Amino acid sequence: MATQDTSPLEELFTVHRTARAFASRPVEEDVLRRLYDLVKMGPTSGNCSPGRFAFLKTEDAKEGLRPALSVGNVERTLSAPVVAIVGHDPLFFEQLPRLGSVSGLRDWFAADVGLSEETAFRNGTLQGGYLILAARMLGLATLPMSGFDSLMVEERFLRQQGWRANFLVALGYPQENPAEEMERLPKLNFEEACLCL
Ligand SMILES: Cc1cc2nc3c(=O)[nH]c(=O)nc-3n(C[C@H](O)[C@H](O)[C@H](O)COP(=O)(O)O)c2cc1C
Repeated sequence: MATQDTSPLEELFTVHRTARAFASRPVEEDVLRRLYDLVKMGPTSGNCSPGRFAFLKTEDAKEGLRPALSVGNVERTLSAPVVAIVGHDPLFFEQLPRLGSVSGLRDWFAADVGLSEETAFRNGTLQGGYLILAARMLGLATLPMSGFDSLMVEERFLRQQGWRANFLVALGYPQENPAEEMERLPKLNFEEACLCL
């Protein structure tokens, strides 16, 4: 974890690692509310804000996730005090008259399913990224996961709202005495991943 010598920037991107385990300390709802209050401020196109988040806190709710998880993800996921389902509302455009500054935007999206799906997925994914970074800044450890059955999760947790599930983020406080960190996997360097044109 961060030391007194690390800057917030280093802490956010370099010191924090994907969590493999969590402390048993619960994550209270006021922390989740603070987290969402940060996430919602991150930019989305036309302020469309399609991201939706279901925080599974109770043992019952987390157990309901078990059959949808890939085998390798079960233990780590269920040991987290909270699991967030990061999703989006495919009908996000219904909120645009309230959220959007450009008139006619709602009708534009409502008439084009391809465009609205692409927009919801793009911006909902961004909002999930904001959630990971904001959680880190609130002192939480995060484990994002795509190894799960999204249809099963939608059916069990999101059917009433009609939201789509994108990925999961297990959340909790960092373990006080973590097992030795795995060596960090290599990253692509600037020349491989970037163009300056
Ligand atoms: C969208 C997404 C999905 C992921 N899915 C899984 C997963 O299903 N199971 C898992 O063990 N780790 C999963 N991870 C964790 C990544 O493998 C991990 O963040 C990456 O290797 C970087 O690790 P580091 O933060 O320790 O450098 C996922 C990460 C992201 C961002």
